[in-house]
Amino acid sequence: MTLLSKVSELRQWRQTAGKVILVPTMGALHDGHGALIKEARCLAGDDAKVVVTIFVNPLQFGPGEDFERYPRTLEADLAMCQTAEADLVFAPEVSEVYAPNRSIQVLESQLSRVLCGASRPGHFDGVCTVVAKLFNLTQPDEAVFGKKDYQQLAIIRRLVRDLNFPIVIHGMETVREPDGLAMSSRNRYLSPEERAQAPALRQALLLARDAWRHGQHDAQILRGMARDFLQKHAPLGREDYVTLVDCEGLEPQSQAGSDSVMAVAWWFGRARLIDNIEFR
Ligand code: PAJ
Repeated sequence: MTLLSKVSELRQWRQTAGKVILVPTMGALHDGHGALIKEARCLAGDDAKVVVTIFVNPLQFGPGEDFERYPRTLEADLAMCQTAEADLVFAPEVSEVYAPNRSIQVLESQLSRVLCGASRPGHFDGVCTVVAKLFNLTQPDEAVFGKKDYQQLAIIRRLVRDLNFPIVIHGMETVREPDGLAMSSRNRYLSPEERAQAPALRQALLLARDAWRHGQHDAQILRGMARDFLQKHAPLGREDYVTLVDCEGLEPQSQAGSDSVMAVAWWFGRARLIDNIEFR
């Protein structure tokens, strides 16, 4: 496995790499990331190359968010990439990615208005800008993202469509702890008491999805069920949103159907946990 940190080295490597499958990350890798890299390895087979990028992107953190204290664990990350059989890890410094007088960025004006975008203005513009740059730098044929960040995945699909990146996007199922909590680099911010309540996110979503399967289609009622469950079982936290949207355009829905996704965000102290479930 090769480790590079300079754009010029990456460019040179790319010239002879052939087909590339990309897995962009911010590091602090856990088994969820590991599953993405393994999936990329499967897609790549013996011929194509798997590239993992590790870059904590300052552009997608708002003022007061956790950019400074975001966990940086490069050595452990490299071990995980090695185990998952990545071919190349690109881990640049911020100064290598952004010119000090940079003046151009990618703005998303529709899908980022709801869900996490509503409370994180500019976040998805930062994501789109860095992902577009990573696409240009690594020139992948395919890229793998997690459904854990459902809104991000929908926005990346839109980015690829609207800016004509010739890249196939794969969405991977969320990898969970044994008790159902979605794996996240931010779970480490939870106190033991909060951690004990955090699986309620998954349980609330399953409750709403099962009610839908039993014929309840009213979004307000379904959201109410999930919210009530969370208020009862995760009282150390508080709501950011409990929303039902369509899986592609992320438009809020009043009736649930087989194109619906229920998404929740719940604050535990300074940590905001997210999870979602597709209705099918
Ligand atoms: P990061 O949070 O490191 O996540 C990298 C990728 O791993 C994303 O596609 C995310 O959806 C996926 N992922 C995270 N937790 C997962 C889990 N439990 N199961 C499955 N997949 C999971 O998302 C980002 O970084 C950044 O915004 C990035 C796209 C790299 C741009 O900076």
